[in-house]
Amino acid sequence: MTEQSPALDNLLTESRTFPPSDEFAAKANATAELYADADTDREAFWAKQAERLHWDTPWTSVLDWSDAPFAKWFVGGKLNVAYNCVDRHVEEGHGDQVAMHWVGEPGDTRDITYAELRGEVCRAANALASLGVGAHDRVAIQLPMIPEAIVAMLACARIGALHSVVFGGFSPAALRSRVDDAEAKVVITSDGQYRRGKAVPMKAGVDDALAGAESVEKVVVVRRAGDDLDGEVAWTDGRDVWWHDLVDAQPDDHTAEAFDSEHPLYILYTSGTTGKPKGILHTSGGYLTQAAYTHRVVFDHKPGEDVYWCTADIGWVTGHSYIVYGPLANRATQVVYEGTPNTPHEGRHWEIVQNYGVSIYYTAPTLIRTFMKWGADIPGKYDLSSLRVLGSVGEPINPEAWMWYREHIGGDRCPVVDTWWQTETGAIMISPLPGVTHAKPGSAQRPLPGISAKVVDNDGTEVPAKGGGYLVLDKPWPSMLRGIWGDDERYRDTYWSRFAEQGFYFAGDGAKYDADGDIWLLGRVDDVMNVSGHRISTTEVESALVSHPTVAEAAVVGATDATTGQGIVAFVILRGGAAEGGEGSAGGEEAIQALRAHVAKEIGPIAKPRQIMVVPELPKTRSGKIMRRLLRDVAENREVGDVTTLADSSVMDLISKGMKSGSGDE
Ligand code: WTA
Repeated sequence: MTEQSPALDNLLTESRTFPPSDEFAAKANATAELYADADTDREAFWAKQAERLHWDTPWTSVLDWSDAPFAKWFVGGKLNVAYNCVDRHVEEGHGDQVAMHWVGEPGDTRDITYAELRGEVCRAANALASLGVGAHDRVAIQLPMIPEAIVAMLACARIGALHSVVFGGFSPAALRSRVDDAEAKVVITSDGQYRRGKAVPMKAGVDDALAGAESVEKVVVVRRAGDDLDGEVAWTDGRDVWWHDLVDAQPDDHTAEAFDSEHPLYILYTSGTTGKPKGILHTSGGYLTQAAYTHRVVFDHKPGEDVYWCTADIGWVTGHSYIVYGPLANRATQVVYEGTPNTPHEGRHWEIVQNYGVSIYYTAPTLIRTFMKWGADIPGKYDLSSLRVLGSVGEPINPEAWMWYREHIGGDRCPVVDTWWQTETGAIMISPLPGVTHAKPGSAQRPLPGISAKVVDNDGTEVPAKGGGYLVLDKPWPSMLRGIWGDDERYRDTYWSRFAEQGFYFAGDGAKYDADGDIWLLGRVDDVMNVSGHRISTTEVESALVSHPTVAEAAVVGATDATTGQGIVAFVILRGGAAEGGEGSAGGEEAIQALRAHVAKEIGPIAKPRQIMVVPELPKTRSGKIMRRLLRDVAENREVGDVTTLADSSVMDLISKGMKSGSGDE
């Protein structure tokens, strides 16, 4: 925890509310009764949600919390997650329904029906089995947004192997640490990917990452960019195998084994407050239950009618729960788009909405703000009348962006659902119900039926209406993480020690109740930044900076950014001799570019600081703790706060002066 408390001062002047239309409410999947149902008997409520899945063996009890904080849901039950997402829809007569309208960035497209998806997943499952991958083994996946990414995840689930998807934008070093931590046996990647109209290599980075990686036996390579790539794809004989050689030769039939409800499904690494990413572990029955339930009630999804599109990448949890598991369990027809939103033009998303008749659209506030910047005339050129529900996730959405989204994308008619959740929660926790809630711009509002959350003060006491504090989850939920891979102690420490006495899960977010008791999220209260909805820890970026030979010390803060939510601002002290310019100097534009490139190499381009400021000193307390709060004041051009606990109070003057002169800025 840092010294700061949640910023509570930006609220609450927002008083507009938007009830659903009578027509929407009349047909909605979820009505107000759902809250009452869940309140009457929580476990019976969740049992009813779980019954919407196919279980080979029914559970004997809904929840076992005796080994808290390690939950067991649907104890004794057995199911196959991939069977639930694919096969059962085919068996129920929906084999010809399109599961995926895939749109490649260069304009190539593929429609894949549930029957075809079943064949692909079976072939891939047989292929993995032929490589010796079995239940409990780990498979790392670094792929662009192509159908094979989804097929690969489902193939793992089908044979009980855990996938660990690593975002394509992560560096070789980041991939390697994840491969090592999970001891992945197989890595699945592609030759290259299309990014902003260009084919760029992918496997080359994976090769760098895997040099000497002991656990890795095979690398399976999807051909995506092919001849569009410059040069040959390097090949390690005996280790590397083309996806098409391996998978296409397999039979398209595979008998799915039922696994225990608590069988591990996947690991997904996320930034914590230390430099080492945490491998968040999710299991099968409870996870799939809540992913499917929330997808159905929050987006009002109607199978066979809606065309759903979640714009996330499978490298993040939103892609796991709301592209793969939730929608497919619910027999969605969905759009999967490979590329960037402005390739080849800034109307690409709206063109896709128009072409496929997208009715549910789920994206992140940072993208909404980018669309705002590009101008309302761009979506204005397309027919968006098929849309009926809009969703937001990843960071607090400012009321202005919320209103713009509702007006210019939703034609003033679509409910907007602001969904709060985390990698750790596995599925949506706090959100309006589109057919029930009188939506407020900027508020996630209420825990979903079956979920319990509270805003508490330092002592864990719930704050009254209009009060602010920390967001906690005070009751276990089906899709909760089951731990951190290989580190039970860190799991307890990170989430359960802050309010150990009360047994609350500490989410790391600040929040506030309004006069009606609705929840407004205020951002992280720990050393985690949220840049374009991506979690990046300040410590991780600091370690990357300090690993550069010219840097002696570094402090990193997340500063408010109009587009990306937060931007990364770094303050560095250069090693003797490297900082020629004296106090507050920029240390030279070249040196700064080199540092930014170094961070991109260590972590990935998403972690590149927006700004690097070379400083002579860092503000520290007498015990040597860096006071990030003061640096944040500087980075956000605010009056610098209380400096009385600083060991040397003149330090801030030096830093502020350097900052105001504009040096270090890009
Ligand atoms: C933030 C993404 C406000 C929050 C699903 C959380 C949000 C972190 C919202 C998790 C929202 C996510 N309003 N803040 N609707 N959704 N967050 O693990 O700080 O990538 O703790 O999961 O994003 O990020 P993660």
